Amino acid sequence: MVYSEKVIDHFANPRNVGEIENADGIGEVGNSKCGDIMKMYIKVEDNTIADVKFKTFGCGAAIATSSMATELIKGKTIDDALQLTNKAVMEALDGLPPVKVHCSVLAEEAIKAAVSDYYKKQGVDPEVIVG
Ligand code: FES
Repeated sequence: MVYSEKVIDHFANPRNVGEIENADGIGEVGNSKCGDIMKMYIKVEDNTIADVKFKTFGCGAAIATSSMATELIKGKTIDDALQLTNKAVMEALDGLPPVKVHCSVLAEEAIKAAVSDYYKKQGVDPEVIVG
């Protein structure tokens, strides 16, 4: 299995690992294929992802994709963050081996779950926005 240099870099030096105290939204998702778990924390200011952190009990590809995903949504509007697909994250990492594609879904789903949680806390029905 061959990993790109970017994947190896983000696995070895993951960005934005940790928790946010008093996060505005927390999303926890599990991967049904392998049982790995990811937790994503967001801080929202002016409809923008002011800060994001993640923790994962998952494989190297899950760590690398989450690290890249947090970099891609930090400072973006919530709408832009919701548009982020696992495909875009993989492209930003110069690809993943096919058997590891399912790992990248965790990050996308964790972002959506964190935003849903944020909307719920705001009293907004997330179904309408996050879908
Ligand atoms: Fe579980 Fe990669 S093997 S997320």
